[in-house]
Amino acid sequence: MRLSINVDHVATLRNARGEMIPDPVSLALMCEQAGADGIVVHLREDRRHIRDRDVILLRELVTTKLDLEMASTPEIVSIACQIIPDLATIVPERREELTTEGGMNVLDNISHLKDVIQELHKHRIEVSLFIEPDIEHINAASEVQSDFIEIHTGVYANAVSEEEQFDELENIRMAARHAKKLGMGVNAGHGLNYHNMKTFRAIEEIDEVSIGHAIIARAVFVGIHQAVREMIGLLQ
Ligand code: PXP
Repeated sequence: MRLSINVDHVATLRNARGEMIPDPVSLALMCEQAGADGIVVHLREDRRHIRDRDVILLRELVTTKLDLEMASTPEIVSIACQIIPDLATIVPERREELTTEGGMNVLDNISHLKDVIQELHKHRIEVSLFIEPDIEHINAASEVQSDFIEIHTGVYANAVSEEEQFDELENIRMAARHAKKLGMGVNAGHGLNYHNMKTFRAIEEIDEVSIGHAIIARAVFVGIHQAVREMIGLLQ
């Protein structure tokens, strides 16, 4: 299981004081030096954390893999086509939300997503759709020619009993297996941390996890290098 790290929280901290520090771009490079396999940023329509400048610099400096999380709006799709990230992960986006709250409704947006993915593919950008572990949405992701899916792990992360956690783990395992059979790569993310990763890492079908909050929060206490190394240790 590879590890991509989402550095949006560092941009939130920077923006809180309207200054240039801490710089999410510098932190992203430190994550790479510590062994991360990729960097994830979400360029939101309201630019509440990551800004255009960050994405431009990251594109120049990231040597592993740059995953641009994005809504499928014309403005952001056009920016993606100029920046050319290694992967564009399409997510639903609502202004009021604290963070992305759930997967895309692929079934109700087939023709829109087909068009957007075709446009991104024209620019040689691979595409992932952030979705729930649901067979119908996975079939729809394949129909719109998505290269990857990213399974929303929020239900697993927020499970209140071991039984609920186990059930959701099996759900995710079956979903990942199904996506693989259809020829798509499988990523996963949302709410994964140093505790719930211990059981999650057993799902062999998952190629990569995308983690932000837990690693950045741990870094406040132990430094980013150690926070990344600890998570890589768990994944291995
Ligand atoms: N993947 C997606 C699509 C997300 O929107 C987020 C949250 O920004 C993450 C992964 C990372 O979630 P967390 O910050 O809870 O690790």
